[in-house]
Amino acid sequence: MASNKKILVTGATGKQGGAVIKALQESSPSFQILALTRNASSKGAQALASKPNTIVVEGDHTSLAPIFEKHKPIFGVFSVTVMDKEGSEEAQAKPLIDESVKNGVELFVFTSVDRGGEKSDTNPTNIPHFASKHRIEEYLKEKSANGTKMPYTILRPVCFMDNLTPDFMGKGFNSMWAGVGTKPLQLVSTRDIGIFAANAFNNPSAYKNRSISLAGDELNIEQGRKVFKDTMGSDLPETFGFVGSGIKYMIKEMGTMFNWFKTDGYGADIQALRKEEPRLQNLSQWLKESSKFSK
Ligand SMILES: NC(=O)c1ccc[n+]([C@@H]2O[C@H](COP(=O)([O-])OP(=O)(O)OC[C@H]3O[C@@H](n4cnc5c(N)ncnc54)[C@H](OP(=O)(O)O)[C@@H]3O)[C@@H](O)[C@H]2O)c1
Repeated sequence: MASNKKILVTGATGKQGGAVIKALQESSPSFQILALTRNASSKGAQALASKPNTIVVEGDHTSLAPIFEKHKPIFGVFSVTVMDKEGSEEAQAKPLIDESVKNGVELFVFTSVDRGGEKSDTNPTNIPHFASKHRIEEYLKEKSANGTKMPYTILRPVCFMDNLTPDFMGKGFNSMWAGVGTKPLQLVSTRDIGIFAANAFNNPSAYKNRSISLAGDELNIEQGRKVFKDTMGSDLPETFGFVGSGIKYMIKEMGTMFNWFKTDGYGADIQALRKEEPRLQNLSQWLKESSKFSK
C-alpha cells in the first residue's frame, strides 16, 4: 500500500545520498524520493531521474524555501554536507535544518562523523571538518529542541571502505592507512550508511533522537592486506610510503586526521551494530559485493 511519504535527499548524486536512495528504494516502494542536486542535467542526476518514485529537484541550500513549498509535506530529510572551504558545511546544513523545523519534517537524518564513539557528543576533535560536523549536530539539537520539535537521527560514519579504489587515489589512501601503523582503523561501507538511514525512515520511532556511530570492520594495514589477498587473490594496491606522507603534508587537514587515527581513533561498537543490522558489511564482504575491484 503506497503511502508516498516524501523524503528529501541531499548529496543525491554522491556516495552517501546515492546509497540512501538505493536503500530506500529497496526497502520500501512507498517513499517518494526528492533527489536534490545542483545540476539536474548531469549524468548522475539523469540516472536518478530514471529510477522509480524519484523526482530530481534542482537547487541547493540557498533555494530551499520554494522546494519545501512546492513539495509539501516533506516527511523526512537526509542531510549530507560536503567540505570545500572553511565554514561551508555549516552553511549547507543550517538553512536545511531551519527550513525542516519550519515545515514540520518528521525525521531529520544528518550524516556526521564518528569522533570516538560515546565521546562524540562532547568531542569536536582538532580536525576542522570533524569540528564543523560537531557544530552542526549542536545546531540541530538546539533548533529541534532536542528532538521534541523535530525528531532527528545523527549517523556518525567512520572512514569509508569506498576510499579503497583501484586508482591512484585508492593507493594513496592505503599508503596513509599504512602510516597509522599497528593501530586498527575502523571502516564502514557507504552502502550501510544508506541502509541505516533507510531503517530510520522506515522505523522513525526506533531511531528517534539517536546518535549512532557506524563501522563494519576494524583493521590495521597488515590485517587489511591479508583480507584483501584472501578475498581478491592479489595484493592490496599501494604506493610508496612517501606518497602517503606527501599527501598528508600537502593537505594539512588530511595529516591532522590520520594523526588522530593514530593517537585517538574512532569508537563505533561494531558488535552491537551487527546485532541491530546483520547486513553490515565487513571489508571482505564489501570487496566482494560493493567495491570496484574485480578478481
Ligand atoms: N570519505 C570518508 O572516509 C568519510 C568518512 C566519514 C565522513 N565523511 C564525510 O562525508 C561527506 C561527503 O559525503 P559523500 O562522500 O557522500 O559526498 P560526495 O560523494 O563527495 O558527493 C556529495 C554530493 O554533494 C554535492 N555537492 C558537492 N559539493 C557541494 C557543495 N559545495 N555544496 C552543495 N552540494 C555539493 C554533489 O552533488 P551535485 O553536484 O549533484 O549537486 C555531490 O555529488 C563529507 O562531509 C566527509 O567529511 C567522509
